[in-house]
Amino acid sequence: FKVTWDAEAAEKEGYAHFMMKEINEQPRGVYETLHRRLDKEDNIVLDGIKITKEDLDKINKVYIVACGTAYHAGLVGKYAIEKFAKIPVDVEVASEFRYRDPFVDENTLFIAVSQSGETLDTLAALREAKRKGARILSVVNVVGSSVARESDDVFYTWAGPEIAVASTKAYTTQLISMYLLSLHMAMTKGTLTEEQYKAYIKELKEMPDKIQAILDDHETIQQLADEQFNNENVFYIGRGLDVTVAYEGSLKLKEISYIHSEAIAAGELKHGTIALIEEGRLVVALATQDKLYDKMLSNIQEVRARGAYVIGVAKKGNKEIEKSADKVIYIPDTLDELTPILSVIPLQILAYYIAVARGCDVDKPKNLAKSVTVE
Ligand code: G6P
Repeated sequence: FKVTWDAEAAEKEGYAHFMMKEINEQPRGVYETLHRRLDKEDNIVLDGIKITKEDLDKINKVYIVACGTAYHAGLVGKYAIEKFAKIPVDVEVASEFRYRDPFVDENTLFIAVSQSGETLDTLAALREAKRKGARILSVVNVVGSSVARESDDVFYTWAGPEIAVASTKAYTTQLISMYLLSLHMAMTKGTLTEEQYKAYIKELKEMPDKIQAILDDHETIQQLADEQFNNENVFYIGRGLDVTVAYEGSLKLKEISYIHSEAIAAGELKHGTIALIEEGRLVVALATQDKLYDKMLSNIQEVRARGAYVIGVAKKGNKEIEKSADKVIYIPDTLDELTPILSVIPLQILAYYIAVARGCDVDKPKNLAKSVTVE
C-alpha cells in the first residue's frame, strides 16, 4: 500500500497554510464558543464555572495573567470586566507576575488565559497565585491541559485545534470568552441592566456573520499587502480598546514576516515614538471607537504630516477618516465595546499576506514555538 496523497496538504483543506485556514475558521469558532454558553432565553450558562454570587461579592481584585496573544485577549478582558462587572482588574504577562510579589489573597480572582494550557510561565504564575489563596479560573482551548486541570473553574474556548504558530482563532474565541465571563459576572452582581445585557448578546450573536463579511473581502487587504510588503518598520496605533488590537496586529506581523513593528497608544506618540515617523513609514491606525474617533483623526494627521503612509481601520459609515488616511479598511458597524472581535481580522489577513509576499514560512516562523514549555 502506498500513500499517494500528502497528509498535511489534506489537513489544510485547500488552504496554502494552516494560518489562513484558521483565520477562516473564526466565524465557526466564535459561533461555537458563544452558542454553547447560551440557553434558549439567551442566558449565559457556564458549566465549568462554579463561582456563586457570594464568591463574587467577596472578590475585590482580578488578575488576568497570560503570554503572547493570550495576554492581548486579557487586555480586552480587563476592559470588559471593569466596564460590565465593576471589579478592578490588572493584566500582566506571566513571566513578570511569577517573579514579583503580587498582591494576591483569598479575595483575588486569578484568570489564566492560554490556548495550549501548557505554557510554563502561565502555569507557574497560576501555581503562585494558588499558593497565596486566590481562586483560579482559566480560559483554555486544549481540554484537559495542565492549566485546566489545576484550575478551580474552567472556561473552554471552542476554537478547535490550532496548528499555525501565530495564533488567530484562539484569540477571537478568547475574546468571546472574556465578554461572556464579564457579562455573566455583571448579571450575577447586578451591575448591568437586562436591557444592556440583551444589547451586548444581540451584537455578539451577529459576530460570526460580520467576521465572515470581512473574510469575504480579503482580496482588498491582499492588494494592500502586495503594495506594502517591503516596509521594514511598521507602527500600529489606536486609543482605548483599539490599542489592545494594535498590540495583537503588530505581534502578528513581526511573528510571521520578521518586519520590525511596534504598537503604541496614539496619545503617547508625541512622547517619543513620533521621532521615528518619516517619509514612507507605514502606520496602521485603528479608529473604531466612536468617542475617540476625532482624537484618532488628529493622530493620523500628525503622522501623515511627517510623511507616513496610513492604513486606517474604521467602522463602516465613518467616512471622515478617508480625508486623513491613505487607505481605509472598513469593519461592519458594532458597539464600541465589542470592536476587537472584528478589527483584528483585517490585521491578521494583512500580516498573513505580507509574510507570504516576503516568502516567509508562515506556519512555522523561525525561533518560535507553538507552545513554550520552557522558561
Ligand atoms: C507562544 C505562541 C503564541 C502564544 C503564546 C502563549 O509564544 O507562539 O502564539 O500566544 O505562546 O501560548 P498559550 O498556549 O499559553 O496561549
